[in-house]
Amino acid sequence: MRQTAIGNTDVLVGAIAYGCWRFAESSVDDADTKIRTALDAGMTLIDTADIYGLGEPRGFGGAEAVLGEVLHREASLRSRMFLATKGGIIPPRPYDSSYDYLTAAIEASLTRLNVDTVDLYQIHRPDLIAPVEETARALNDMVKSGKTRFVGVSNFTVAQTRALQAHLDTPLVSTQPEFSALHQDPITDGTFDWCSETGATALAWSPLARGSIPRKSSDHPRGAAVISCLQDIAEAHGASVSDIALAFTMKHQARIIPIIGTQNPARITDSAKATELDLSAREFYDIVEAYRGEAMP
Ligand SMILES: NC(=O)c1ccc[n+]([C@@H]2O[C@H](COP(=O)([O-])OP(=O)(O)OC[C@H]3O[C@@H](n4cnc5c(N)ncnc54)[C@H](OP(=O)(O)O)[C@@H]3O)[C@@H](O)[C@H]2O)c1
Repeated sequence: MRQTAIGNTDVLVGAIAYGCWRFAESSVDDADTKIRTALDAGMTLIDTADIYGLGEPRGFGGAEAVLGEVLHREASLRSRMFLATKGGIIPPRPYDSSYDYLTAAIEASLTRLNVDTVDLYQIHRPDLIAPVEETARALNDMVKSGKTRFVGVSNFTVAQTRALQAHLDTPLVSTQPEFSALHQDPITDGTFDWCSETGATALAWSPLARGSIPRKSSDHPRGAAVISCLQDIAEAHGASVSDIALAFTMKHQARIIPIIGTQNPARITDSAKATELDLSAREFYDIVEAYRGEAMP
C-alpha cells in the first residue's frame, strides 16, 4: 500500500488506517485476525481510544484491552504498527483534559494496551473547562517521558487547535475530524487548510459515514444525491461505492488518511484497493457538488 508521512516527520504509515471503535465486542482471536489482516493489507496506523467499549459489556477501556491482549499474545505485532490512541472523554463529565486526568489516562491506556509507549496520543474532544496550558503541559510531559512519540487532536476547531499548539513544545502532528462524502465540513471549516498550513496529517474518521455509504441508506438531506453520485462513479471505475468513497477522501490535497472501521476481514483487505483508484478532478468535484446541492461557484 502507498505510504504517507505523519505530519512533518519522516515516519511513514499506510495511506488507509484501521480503527478499533467497534472492537470491544470482539473475541481476542477475532481481534487478532482483524489486526493482522489490516497490517498485512498495509494499514499500519491502528487507531483506538480509551472510551471505545463504553456502553458495551467490556466497558470503558474495552477496545484497548482487546488490542492489548492481541499484543500480549504476539508482542512482535507492535513493531509493525503505528499505534494511536486517545483520551479525554469521561462521561458523564463529559470531557477532562486537565493535567492530572490526562497523565493518569495515558498510563492506564499503556497498561491496557500492554505497551510502554504509543506513537500518537490524541485529545479526543476539546475540554471547555481545563486550562489549555494544563492540557499542553500534560502532552509535553508525555512526549518528554517517552510515553508517546507524537501528539494530536480530534474534533477540535482550528482555533482550538491553534490555542493548544501555542502552549506546546512539540508540533501537533495530526487532527482527526469526521470526514466522508456524507460529511464534508472539514473542507470548508478550515481543518484541512490548517493541515496544509502546518504539515499536520488529517485522519478522517468514519470515512464510509459509519456504513451509510455501503448500505446506501442515509438520513442526511443530501444522502440520496451523494450515494447516487458515488454509484455512478463506481460503475465507471468497475469499483464499489466504498472504494470510491475512500478514494474521495484521499483525493483532497491535504494528504488525508481515512480510518476504516469494518469488522469484516474480507472488507478490510478489499478496502486497500481504494488506494489504487485515482478519481478524476471532475469526479471529485461531482461528489463535492452532490453534497453542496449546487455547482461550485
Ligand atoms: N475521533 C473520533 O471522535 C472518532 C469517532 C468515530 C470513529 N473514529 C475512528 O474512526 C474509525 C472508523 O469509524 P467507523 O467504524 O464509523 O468507520 P466506517 O468505515 O465509516 O464505518 C464502518 C461501518 O461500515 C460498515 N460497512 C463497511 N463496509 C460495508 C459494506 N460493504 N456493507 C455494509 N456495511 C459495511 C461496517 O460494518 P461491518 O463491520 O459489518 O463491515 C461498519 O459498521 C473508528 O474505528 C475510530 O478509530 C473516531
